[in-house]
Amino acid sequence: APNIPVANVKAHLRKLQSIANANGGNRAHGRPGYKASAAYIKGKLDAAGFTTRLSPFTYNGVTGWNLIADWPGGDTRHVIMAGSHLDSVRNGPGINDNGSGSAGVLEVALAVSRAKLHPAKHLRFGWWGAEELGMVGSKNYVDNLSQSARSKIDGYLNFDMIGSPNPGYFVYDNDPELESVFTKWFKAKGIPTEIETEGDGRSDHAPFEAAGIPVGGLYSGGETPKSPEQARKWGGEAAKAFDPCYHRSCDTSSNIGAKGLDNNADAIAHAIWTLGTTKVE
Ligand code: PHE
Ligand code: ZN
Ligand code: ZN
Ligand code: ZN
Repeated sequence: APNIPVANVKAHLRKLQSIANANGGNRAHGRPGYKASAAYIKGKLDAAGFTTRLSPFTYNGVTGWNLIADWPGGDTRHVIMAGSHLDSVRNGPGINDNGSGSAGVLEVALAVSRAKLHPAKHLRFGWWGAEELGMVGSKNYVDNLSQSARSKIDGYLNFDMIGSPNPGYFVYDNDPELESVFTKWFKAKGIPTEIETEGDGRSDHAPFEAAGIPVGGLYSGGETPKSPEQARKWGGEAAKAFDPCYHRSCDTSSNIGAKGLDNNADAIAHAIWTLGTTKVE
């Protein structure tokens, strides 16, 4: 897999920050900052050759959208999906939560295009609306899949908060095969990981898992303080939250740890290349 340029990921985050600034300080469901965020991501994907659609849903009396992008080619009976929620809370611009996952997945998708990748499996990327209101967008997506469409998704990888300023490296342990794709990569890099324990039922992988689809993902930590032992192995500050600006107005483009974001974006690329180019039996 190619190295993902973290400068590109950070440029997407600056754009999402400027969208929030121009739209009342947030990118929340039902607010103009959400629609502008989706338009930005869609424009990049369209220019890179993806087949994209904005899929509307209604929640709290207002329209939200999921953005779905398919990379043409691959065996559509075997789909590898990666996704992230694109909405913020109303309190702030949501740059770590979840501009980070959204920008990381976008940049990996753009790397697929730059590589003119011909994967064995079909690659699909999703940016979910209204996660912060109860995973509304991702539930809507999964609910609207036919049983046959569900059964064709070999795996869904979720990225929600991957640029925490005082980062940890947490790997979802839901599906052992998907988990090991990530843990092997981090191990080879000499980066210790821990099992992600806060996330179950708390992000967009939950509706996929409930529908019987294997899920995996990465998380760099939220409001919980980093323990002294975690600070010893990962660096950063003990007794301080992984993300002190979680769900706050200070979750801006300064609330990002570049090294963690860089590592996690590279890990996403590794997973997409590994899973997508594995021969279909
Ligand atoms: N879904 C949570 C949020 O957006 C964040 C989270 C991600 C929590 C992963 C746990 C694990 O606020
Ligand atoms: Zn399969
Ligand atoms: Zn959140
Ligand atoms: Zn989140």
